[in-house]
Amino acid sequence: MKDASPQTIYLSDYQPYPFRIARVDLTFGLAPRATRVHSRIEFAPNPARPGRHDLFLHGEKLRLHSARIDGKPVAAEAMAITDEGLTVTARALPDGPFLWEAEVEIDPEGNTALEGLYMSGGMYCTQCEAEGFRKITYYPDRPDVMAPFKVRIESDLPVLLSNGNPVAKGAGWAEWNDPWPKPAYLFALVAGNLVNLPDSFTTRSGRKVDLNIWVRPGDLDRCAFAMDSLIRSMKWDEDVYGREYDLDVFNIVAVDDFNMGAMENKGLNIFNSKLVLASPETATDLDFERIEGVIAHEYFHNWTGNRITCRDWFQLCLKEGLTVFRDQQFTSDMRSGPVKRIEDVLTLRARQFREDMGPLAHPPRPDHFVEINNFYTATVYEKGAEVIGMLKRLVGDDGYARALDLYFERHDGEAATIEDWLKVFEDATGRDLTQFRRWYTDAGTPRLTVAEDWAPGAGGGTFTLTFTQVTPPTPGQDIKPPRVIPVAVGLLNPNGDEVVPTTVLEMTEATQSFAFEGLASRPVASILRGFSAPVVLERAALAAERAFLLAHDTDPFNRWEAGRALAKDVLVRMVTEDAAPSEDYLSALGRLLADEALDPAFRALCLRLPSEDDLAQTLAEAGRSPDPDRIHAAREDLARAIATRFEGPLAQTYEALADAGPFSPDAAAAGRRALRVAALALLNRIDGGARAAALFERATNMTESAAALACLIEADRAEPALAAFHARWKENRLVIDKWFMLQVVHAAPERAAEVAERLAAHPDFDWKNPNRARALLGGLAANHAGFHAASGAAYRFYADWLLRLDALNPQIAARLSTAFETWARYDADRRALVAAELERIRATPGLSRDLSEMTGRILG
Ligand code: PHE
Ligand code: ZN
Repeated sequence: MKDASPQTIYLSDYQPYPFRIARVDLTFGLAPRATRVHSRIEFAPNPARPGRHDLFLHGEKLRLHSARIDGKPVAAEAMAITDEGLTVTARALPDGPFLWEAEVEIDPEGNTALEGLYMSGGMYCTQCEAEGFRKITYYPDRPDVMAPFKVRIESDLPVLLSNGNPVAKGAGWAEWNDPWPKPAYLFALVAGNLVNLPDSFTTRSGRKVDLNIWVRPGDLDRCAFAMDSLIRSMKWDEDVYGREYDLDVFNIVAVDDFNMGAMENKGLNIFNSKLVLASPETATDLDFERIEGVIAHEYFHNWTGNRITCRDWFQLCLKEGLTVFRDQQFTSDMRSGPVKRIEDVLTLRARQFREDMGPLAHPPRPDHFVEINNFYTATVYEKGAEVIGMLKRLVGDDGYARALDLYFERHDGEAATIEDWLKVFEDATGRDLTQFRRWYTDAGTPRLTVAEDWAPGAGGGTFTLTFTQVTPPTPGQDIKPPRVIPVAVGLLNPNGDEVVPTTVLEMTEATQSFAFEGLASRPVASILRGFSAPVVLERAALAAERAFLLAHDTDPFNRWEAGRALAKDVLVRMVTEDAAPSEDYLSALGRLLADEALDPAFRALCLRLPSEDDLAQTLAEAGRSPDPDRIHAAREDLARAIATRFEGPLAQTYEALADAGPFSPDAAAAGRRALRVAALALLNRIDGGARAAALFERATNMTESAAALACLIEADRAEPALAAFHARWKENRLVIDKWFMLQVVHAAPERAAEVAERLAAHPDFDWKNPNRARALLGGLAANHAGFHAASGAAYRFYADWLLRLDALNPQIAARLSTAFETWARYDADRRALVAAELERIRATPGLSRDLSEMTGRILG
């Protein structure tokens, strides 16, 4: 019944909780089907909410055995229990502080939603963010209620972990104490037959911290890189942000069944095993980079998220945007800054711009939601980070450092808001951020058009840039006032010298001009350097000018961007006009490929063609309905044209970069492998898979193995390789995920649905495991032309699986449903097919709140 009319929650309804909690004591008696949770909670009235109030505690799927207040059982008439929680009437509560005690029973083994306490591969683990603690016991499960926790775990399993510091343990029990007040979403418990990789870190004030990574017995040999990443993260946060760790131990646990990437529980981070386990043979360079970044991300949350948390879930980007920003800074310090920036912009455009341009658009700080789990989005995370990057650009590095120091000093131990965050910037820098705040409250990606004017003069000419910003309407927000946009600009002489170094222009009006005077000749402008703001820059540049920037721009991001724009122009004209690839583009690409002075990782990025989804978006924005088959064909044609034209240099690059010596996961070695496999992927279009077949036999690392396998699938000669790969890796779930994913992503579009269907029937398709489900379904959605095949077969298959998954794990189903968010772009036939599937989902009885909110919003 509770899903019949899901309730919308509004930011404007926020009220402090009427009680405070002085401390929490929990005792767990673990049993797979009947775990007992005993809670003792010391409540006191909250002066911020004067008057007498009922005691409301969240609770879902709990069997209540007893409830007492100050030792006396709560009378049945004084207590009401619904599907959402429990209310004790104010009349039954003492005037001042009181002790609440309850005993509940829960069923971890029956918990397939993987939220609350659940079992994964024989171990107990928890996931409480955002609102999972209410499935463990009755509690005010909201982030502004913070308390110190003591936890006792009773179980015969050898390893028993919770938050904070270990207090004591004996045969069949262990006790933990977390002195730092925290919201319930940061609670964690793990129990299992685990082994650990130990290490330690001494903080700059001399505290020795025991570090451990806990995994299942067979996985211990793949933890070293994660541990190394953790130690580098701890050091970096001290060096760059002055943030020290604050407990005696830091534990990380890898679990196979996890809805998300990882979770920053205080002192006990829980990770999806794919973001911990890595060896050269099993993990790609991309996996290594992600592990490093996510280990850092979760560790950084200790200050940005845990010590300072969010007042309510509308403020989610306060912790996530900032922590993503920090992990991006970390990765760019550990690796290459320019390459990291390009990768981040690629992700931002592929996921966040796509979201912002469709029916799911929302601001980084939304003001209403039905299910908070549906708001762990690219907008909250990635755009949230971009907004902080703009703030930093506007106030400068020093201003940013002062503001952050003030933030930690002023709000440590608190649950804060975006207003608090902006206030520390105002107070630390004296800057008024009233207009800047719109970046948090308004949805949509601004479109920035630019016009150039050159006026020669006696004492030198004047070059004027006139910008106009327009943000298209998004659901529920029709009118978009202008925002502050930092536009980083540099000017180049026709000979390639920089005449005006990077300057940040601050745009605040709908239309605004900026003049550069005293120039000897008309310059070439490099605009939005470093992608200084998350906007779409519309610039009617000539191919020759783009080629010039690709050859000469001193800003590496814009250099790449120029090549990207050229490639997109070429592809759009191939799709819409049957044009041939332009000479400007091909010759510029050739020069770049041959430029040995350029970072191989950068060259690899330049060789990567825009994705089909990206082209579909570009065409849709230009008012055309994208034809997935034509887009696919054009992209293949261009790849073949590049391979044919540069066969010699590509083959030479491919050979010259053959892996020599022992494997290293570092950025330089990864960059060489990236360039090598980028060359391979192009050559594969003309060598019939010959090189890929040879590489597949010889490869000693997963980056090359997986790349070779992908090429063989595309060349339609992968059967023996797929069988060999499966036989070799059948015991390794993470590698078998790749085996599923590659087959669907690289399937010929007309066969994609059929391949997915066949794989769904494979005995290894354990659809209850989120990684496996995502490998297959996410893989299908990533095969643009396959997913959008005109028959509608993929749509149907996908919708069937969403329904099946929803009954078991609503979060996964809801997240995967975003594959349909772009449906309005396509032609009437495809739109009708998608709408029919979405309507079918929506009409299904018993649908989760998660998936029903998503289908409703996608349908609009
Ligand atoms: N807070 C986690 C992170 O970003 C993400 C997460 C959200 C994990 C919800 C699980 C559940 O680091
Ligand atoms: Zn996070």
